[in-house]
Amino acid sequence: MTIEIRSLHDSFGAEVIGVDLSRPLDAEEFATVHRAHLDHGIILFRDQELTPAQHKAFSRRFGPPEIHVVSWYRLPDHPEIIVVSNKKGAEGKPLGLEDAGRYWHSDMSYLPTPALGSILYAVEVPPTGGATMFASMHAAFDALTPERKESLSKMRAVHHFGSRWYREKDKAGIRPPMTKEEEEKTPPVDHPIIRTHPENGRKSIYTGGFTMGVVGMAQDEALEFLDDLDAFMTQPQFVYTHEWRAGDVVFWDNRCTMHHATVYDAQKHTRHMHRTTIKGDKPF
Ligand SMILES: [Fe+2]
Repeated sequence: MTIEIRSLHDSFGAEVIGVDLSRPLDAEEFATVHRAHLDHGIILFRDQELTPAQHKAFSRRFGPPEIHVVSWYRLPDHPEIIVVSNKKGAEGKPLGLEDAGRYWHSDMSYLPTPALGSILYAVEVPPTGGATMFASMHAAFDALTPERKESLSKMRAVHHFGSRWYREKDKAGIRPPMTKEEEEKTPPVDHPIIRTHPENGRKSIYTGGFTMGVVGMAQDEALEFLDDLDAFMTQPQFVYTHEWRAGDVVFWDNRCTMHHATVYDAQKHTRHMHRTTIKGDKPF
């Protein structure tokens, strides 16, 4: 079957039509999907049905898996998959993280070698709400003035998982504290604010929700600076909002996009998703 690529937004995002992710892609199909991912930043596949093994097999074509630092919301027997869900198991125990990613961020930017990309598979979705917004950091970089590109390219931001975890924990009150081991595994790291994509060569702004400071800048000033940058990067012209259907698979590139989950009525409806994450490399 011929693969068709259909644009989702003026500056990024595409739907890939004619691919069944449950079976291995041949070399030509893989090359087309890989190219679409590099060209569009996020790619959408509709009407998929994936077992955890099939989900992991497709993800591995792009690189080794990254295991999430927080252990309790990994899928049992499949540590490469995290569960984003409001479903409860035996004795009311959450099956996944209900309030995942409700702030602009790039997944695992807090690691010394942050994630290349993430592949989120929608198993059950609510009839309304629960959309995911995506922002193109390539498009945001391109829109900067030459002076701003120059000044930002000399700066580094500090990323820290724990600061964000506890901020979200305080906000919604449904997250448990991190374990000491999880905290020790995720010390603050710093990355360049402007990074160059290792595969397509384009530049992007690389900050977002795990950034908690700027190297060499006073903390209050840094937080205001990062908020301003966030507001710049998430202007409507850089944002695509994805309304999920069950069976959707979205593969986003964490090196050049950010995303932001939105709320839904978790008392009335179910939203249940599986995510794999692919290891990336050190930003430069
Ligand atoms: Fe995320």
